[in-house]
Amino acid sequence: MSHHSSLFDSYSIRRQRPPKNKIGTGVKHDSAISHVMGTATYVDDMLKPQSTLHVAIGKSTHAHARILHMDLSAVWAADGVVDVITFQDLPAKTDIGPVFDGDPLMADKVTEYVGQTLFAVVATSHRAAKKAVLNALIEYEPLAAILTIDDALEQEQFIRPSHFMQRGDTQAELKSAPTRIAGHIHMLGQEHFYLEGQVSYVVPCDDGGLEVYTSSQHPSEVQQLVAEVVDLPFHAVTTIVRRMGGGFGGKETQAAAWACLCAIVAKRQNMPVSMRLDRQDDMVVTGKRHEFSNRYEVGVDEDGKVLGVDMQLAGLCGYSPDLSDAIVDRAMFHCDNAYYYPAAQIAGHRCKTHTVSNTAYRGFGGPQGLLTAEYMMDHIAYTLGKDPLHVRLANLYQNGQSTHYGQPIEHFDLATLMQTLAEDSDYDKRRQQIIEANKKAEAEGNDKRWGLALTPVKFGISFTVQTLNQAGALVLIYTDGTIQVNHGGTEMGQGLYIKIAQVVANEFDVDLDTVKATATRTDKVPNTSPTAASSGTDMNGKAAQNACITIKNRLLEFAAEHFQVNAEDIRFERNHVHIGTKEVLTFADFVLLAYQHRISLSSTGYYKTPKIFYDRSKAWGRPFFYFALGAACAEVEIDTLTGEYKVLRCDILHDVGQSINPAVDIGQIEGGFVQGMGWLTTEELIWDKKGTLASNSPANYKIPTAHDLPKQWRVKLFDRKNEEQTIYNSKAVGEPPFMLAASVWCAINNAIASLGDYKQNPELTMPATPEAVLKAVMRLQGQAWEIASKPDTETIESLTPADDDWGIDDDRVLPQQVAHGKDIEPPASEGQLFDEEPEAIENPNVSTARGPAHSE
Ligand code: MTE
Ligand code: MOS
Repeated sequence: MSHHSSLFDSYSIRRQRPPKNKIGTGVKHDSAISHVMGTATYVDDMLKPQSTLHVAIGKSTHAHARILHMDLSAVWAADGVVDVITFQDLPAKTDIGPVFDGDPLMADKVTEYVGQTLFAVVATSHRAAKKAVLNALIEYEPLAAILTIDDALEQEQFIRPSHFMQRGDTQAELKSAPTRIAGHIHMLGQEHFYLEGQVSYVVPCDDGGLEVYTSSQHPSEVQQLVAEVVDLPFHAVTTIVRRMGGGFGGKETQAAAWACLCAIVAKRQNMPVSMRLDRQDDMVVTGKRHEFSNRYEVGVDEDGKVLGVDMQLAGLCGYSPDLSDAIVDRAMFHCDNAYYYPAAQIAGHRCKTHTVSNTAYRGFGGPQGLLTAEYMMDHIAYTLGKDPLHVRLANLYQNGQSTHYGQPIEHFDLATLMQTLAEDSDYDKRRQQIIEANKKAEAEGNDKRWGLALTPVKFGISFTVQTLNQAGALVLIYTDGTIQVNHGGTEMGQGLYIKIAQVVANEFDVDLDTVKATATRTDKVPNTSPTAASSGTDMNGKAAQNACITIKNRLLEFAAEHFQVNAEDIRFERNHVHIGTKEVLTFADFVLLAYQHRISLSSTGYYKTPKIFYDRSKAWGRPFFYFALGAACAEVEIDTLTGEYKVLRCDILHDVGQSINPAVDIGQIEGGFVQGMGWLTTEELIWDKKGTLASNSPANYKIPTAHDLPKQWRVKLFDRKNEEQTIYNSKAVGEPPFMLAASVWCAINNAIASLGDYKQNPELTMPATPEAVLKAVMRLQGQAWEIASKPDTETIESLTPADDDWGIDDDRVLPQQVAHGKDIEPPASEGQLFDEEPEAIENPNVSTARGPAHSE
């Protein structure tokens, strides 16, 4: 019995009932039932022929080393082994860098991170392939490795040139400012921890082409890279993605390598080939969120209003460029969060290290910029002894101003949103109560303290590479009145398919379950952009709508002539088509009639985002179509004796414009918030001194659980339609809520600040693990845990066996002084001295690299 049959109503019921589940209703995810039942098919679940071959990779154990010799004879001899492939066996292109070269499919003579692929084993089972890998004997000559941002900055090792944004005379503003504050903040990376790991399955076709099943956010790029590594034209390769078990950015570029390896083997062996990364492998060999080390110097007036900011952002990119150029740019675009910097000087460095190549992760660098602004706001508030919320509100952008990269601030109601949230959550009253409670706790010798924080989010929506802001869709109507929609976006659990189906159902005013969104395939909609930058619904929704409009116009023209009525008098309504006052047909009967009169019932649709442009050489323009806004108010309780804490309450008010699906949108807000909380509180990536990831499994890397959710949690949508002409005036929702979690970190900071009577900035680090909280508490109480400028390697060494050099640099999360890249001066042409209105330019920054430029 097929478990799918019950998902569809019978034909007779379908034709008669009133429409349901359209735009604005909280319909459940199209795979909700199959997700819960465990019947949703992921790539690894696909039924495959018994003869399918399996691939496993041999990984480098050195961060930076010359590979002197690889003895793979015992690998060949292992049970079930069919083939072994090294760099020399690669048949065509060997580099799969998405924007710039630098990502060899396998290391050739030098390895640049622990986990880099050295060779691949092909065997009759996944297990056999993995076991055979262990038989390899590899001889290395270790080379000096750079493992930290500090070292990369000091040695000026950058994977891409530094970039600068500026406005006004920052140094003059800093000089004349009544108060000048300098600070630094170090943020760790984050493991994506998608539940479904990286996976691929490639089937050779009888015409020499390849069918590629992958878990990728970017099917077109996988198609192109697979074609290039096996030397096929693009049309011979089809990529199919029905769903991912989560991507979060980790499958934007880094799903490609496994598909390429399978494709090479499929061609060599003419057999179907499958490959998956088990969790530990996945954690070690794939890139993560970028670790950042940021510093700032800010001049403020008596109210804490910013007069000028000098900021340096340095991201740890790893060994190759991947998407790091655009990620550090996005950090720079968001280092203001929601605050006006009249004068600003922002430097962004892309540090090259001998570690895995870091990649897209929900927010794409935005969170690392935004948190720097939020940390700075807290720093200003505690230095001046003010309520952090007042400092935030005083600095908020006003309509008519522009950002430090020239984007005009329009339709900006964040102040209203924040004030509404402050009232709804009783911010003022609770703040007073908490201040009192903390005093009382101190007087009574109680170890508990409480903290409260309300922080905003402003997140720019659009890919900053202009080319990527385009999308295509294909709408097919069948003669029973059911509809298929296919588009360039991929489903990773975020509810894109159901939202696009809602768009199509709404356009024809038919039941949602007569519309089906089908697997993303490069042979249906070509040359697609990655599903990223939260733009999936914005772009594919408009493309699908345009396809519907084309078909509708054809149908109207046909009906007007056939029934001899005016086209304006024909209405698609409630599963029916009203032909003036003459006749009412069911939608199904109507399309059947159109078919019988030879009217085409399918169409493509296309969309490109209007208004956007950005001149990177001047660091000036309007890179974003609009901003998504939101705010969160969190209350925490900390234990000053142990550093433990809990989130007692959180109120969220988030702006998704006019929601297409409030249930899905609220799910995105909740999920994003908790994932952000994980990054800022519990998730701690730890590497040993050799550059090996120590936190390589759920046993030693703590993602948030249901237990960590706020005890009281209210999430509301800000009821305001998008002023820009987006699909039904909705707003993108995927990434922005991630940064609402800043409220939790700032609330913990607030609880600690109570120990210094709110007059001293607690030096709380990120993530605020219980250890970090305890250290910050002790520092504020004048106890140990001084801030070391260098990791205490002697202590670490004394704890580890003498013959083993594997210490763990736990002090990397300390707020170390970050070197200011003094010699790295901005070229005169970058940035603007005056706050000019940006002008559209003819040739925006389209990367010159291979294929369509790729980034957010
Ligand atoms: N939600 C789920 N459930 N799973 C995911 O992998 N990825 C996030 C976000 N929400 C993700 C998710 C990221 S990083 C992005 S960019 C957007 O979804 C992409 O989808 P969208 O453009 O359709 O919002
Ligand atoms: Mo999301 S980081 O843009 O895939």
